Amino acid sequence: MKELNLQITMKACAYAELDDTDRALVDAARQATHRSYSPYSHFSVGAAVRLADGTIVTGSNQENAAYPSGLCAERTALFYAGSRYPGQAVEALAIAARDGQGLYTDEPVTPCGACRQVMLETEMRAGRPLRVLLYGTRRTCIIEGVETLLPLAFGAEAME
Ligand code: THU
Repeated sequence: MKELNLQITMKACAYAELDDTDRALVDAARQATHRSYSPYSHFSVGAAVRLADGTIVTGSNQENAAYPSGLCAERTALFYAGSRYPGQAVEALAIAARDGQGLYTDEPVTPCGACRQVMLETEMRAGRPLRVLLYGTRRTCIIEGVETLLPLAFGAEAME
């Protein structure tokens, strides 16, 4: 039996080192945390999506007393982008979060499995690697392409 190793590569930098375009997207994600509806988890997540024409759309987590009915910030933003701008490729997605005390997380917040699956399909639709910016006060991680976040993913091609 062979052992196969998968390797992932990502970059990390300080917020101050981000270029203007990335910093604007991270800032939009940070601001979106203030529009979170999270009375149950007290964890406020914001996501910002940059489209091919430079338009930025945002989303935040929206919770519900029937817990599974709520939706993560990433999918709120991506589904909004898809429904409002269906012809526009999504180029980049930034994510930020604040804890119950209102403080931004020091480590980057990472998307849940369901959001990764939706990010993968977003990338397939765009036909180019999705740039993912995961913000934390200590560092921001930059990932080029969803395969890094979701290796061995299930996609539409498996059904062909
Ligand atoms: N959440 C997100 O919105 N995005 C993530 O990447 C992780 C988790 C939300 C879901 C729920 O409202 C709260 O954070 C706690 O899980």
